[in-house]
Amino acid sequence: MIQAAVTGACGRMGTLIMSNILQAGDIELVAGFDFVRVGEDIGSVVLGGALGINVTSPDNLESELVRTMPDVLIDFTIAQAAVKTIETACKCGVDLVVGTTGFTQEQQQQNMENITKAGIKAVIAPNFSIGVNVFLKLLEEASKHLYNYDIEIIEAHHNQKKDAPSGTAIKAAEVINQQIGVQKPVIYGREGFSPRGSEIAIHALRGGDIVGDHTVLFAGEGERIEIKHQAHSRQSFAAGAITAVRWLCSQQNIPGVYGMKDVLKL
Ligand SMILES: NC(=O)c1ccc[n+]([C@@H]2O[C@H](COP(=O)([O-])OP(=O)(O)OC[C@H]3O[C@@H](n4cnc5c(N)ncnc54)[C@H](O)[C@@H]3O)[C@@H](O)[C@H]2O)c1
Repeated sequence: MIQAAVTGACGRMGTLIMSNILQAGDIELVAGFDFVRVGEDIGSVVLGGALGINVTSPDNLESELVRTMPDVLIDFTIAQAAVKTIETACKCGVDLVVGTTGFTQEQQQQNMENITKAGIKAVIAPNFSIGVNVFLKLLEEASKHLYNYDIEIIEAHHNQKKDAPSGTAIKAAEVINQQIGVQKPVIYGREGFSPRGSEIAIHALRGGDIVGDHTVLFAGEGERIEIKHQAHSRQSFAAGAITAVRWLCSQQNIPGVYGMKDVLKL
């Protein structure tokens, strides 16, 4: 049985992931951390019934991780908080599945250093849905042939999303640049006098309850291709995170930072 803990337990993703864990026969939830609903039974957060495990304040993350020693800590919170959470998990020798987005390059670097130094395993992905990871694979193929086309990335999310552009949109630009082997400049939106050059432009839309849309446009002379992914529900992310948990726990003694590309063998 895999023992798992969740940070961001009372958030949109955390609640759904805990619900998935409670329904899985091979994963046991041993702790849940959040600043809200501290002391409430996690069962009442997820199911409406008692479970006997209470929401713990992140102030007690280290002592609770030491007490419960989960195989994996799943983090869907906010970047600034996640950096500290990752550091604490490293200190406690607990493996990680991190879905939080919005890390700066310095924060990413810090996370990598902490994980590598601690010799733990982590799956970090800006998007855990299988569809999005296949979408990224399709982008590699398209970029091989359409590197001279104008490339624009358009993403849309719900009005509560805190970071922009989305981690997936940034990842899409990285994948394209890696495939092309040339660092096309990445810009965010356009305004005023801004003639088009070789840049990849990312445009972020925020509204209503949009779960997550990503479109990459390759536009050339007389034609265009759009590669598009639309998430209909957060369950696509939660299911992918659970797949990552199982994969991570099946990897014996191979410390390092992995992505969904590794998990899905893409
Ligand atoms: N990788 C993916 O597939 C994927 C999918 C969806 C969302 N996300 C990302 O996951 C994150 C969370 O998204 P959400 O929609 O669930 O947000 P949310 O705002 O609904 O939930 C975040 C929760 O984290 C809690 N929190 C903040 N700091 C904390 C800490 N130090 N310890 C414990 N809990 C803490 C907040 O109180 C909140 O309940 C965002 O960064 C989002 O972009 C990633």
